[in-house]
Amino acid sequence: MSANIINGKAIAEATLDEIKSLIEKRLAQGQRAPTLAVILLGTDAASAIYVRNKRLACEKTGIRSLAYDLPASTSEADLLALIQQLNDDDEVDGILVQSPLPAHIEEKKIIETISASKDVDGFHPYNIGRLAVRQPTLRSCTPYGVIKLLQSTGVNILGLDAVVVGVSNHVGRPMALELLLAGCTVTSCHRHTKDLRAAVERADLVVAAVGKAGLIKGEWIKPGAIVIDIGINRLQDGSLCGDIEFATASQRAAWITPVPGGVGPMTVATLMQNTLKALELREAGKLAS
Ligand code: GUN
Repeated sequence: MSANIINGKAIAEATLDEIKSLIEKRLAQGQRAPTLAVILLGTDAASAIYVRNKRLACEKTGIRSLAYDLPASTSEADLLALIQQLNDDDEVDGILVQSPLPAHIEEKKIIETISASKDVDGFHPYNIGRLAVRQPTLRSCTPYGVIKLLQSTGVNILGLDAVVVGVSNHVGRPMALELLLAGCTVTSCHRHTKDLRAAVERADLVVAAVGKAGLIKGEWIKPGAIVIDIGINRLQDGSLCGDIEFATASQRAAWITPVPGGVGPMTVATLMQNTLKALELREAGKLAS
């Protein structure tokens, strides 16, 4: 068997086109475009690429992008003051601070200072809590992007045995909450899991979000399973791969995401969607401060 490839790049492009049309409609009705402020500290090469992709997606969709490229030496107090200024600005709908942050800055403080109503990453405890109580508002971009990819397959995931490997605050945990919301029976695996192989072998749906190349062996995949790889790892030859052995897994799975070109582009598309949604919700008076 050879798996169907879930083409995240194409699905993300279609999503960006939809957002572009919605924004054009707003402008035609005399409403303003959404605005996203993206803050980047330092010169980390990978972060610079991610931020460039986010700003390009803003350009493609018609979202107004505010760029704050600051030195790595920026103090935590100065960063917090900038976030507060953006929180108070009625013309700004979304605020994103690219991580990882320099060691002298406490990420938790930054995330919690961004107004929950402008938290387009979906990282704020308020937004994670909303998802946990089945009232999602601004949803974490990567996990919600994965839900969109799953929907694109047309497979009914209700009742599936889903395994999420990785429990990070930004990806693994909200991913498990998204799958629970979607009606899956969810198992979360992490560094203390006793038998990762057995958990993966049982799964109808495997989502890997660890960042360790080849962590999940293709031979562990249940025939006919859906396989979603969120990991992005750079190999010594410069090429990218996920956490799951693609060549062997794709011989067993029914559906599989490639790396690159799978989940990554959907994260950016969902960020654009969240920015538009943040504006619409605030206009409708439906967001917490
Ligand atoms: N660093 C890597 N991915 C992300 C992301 O989705 N959002 C933010 N803020 N930082 C990141």
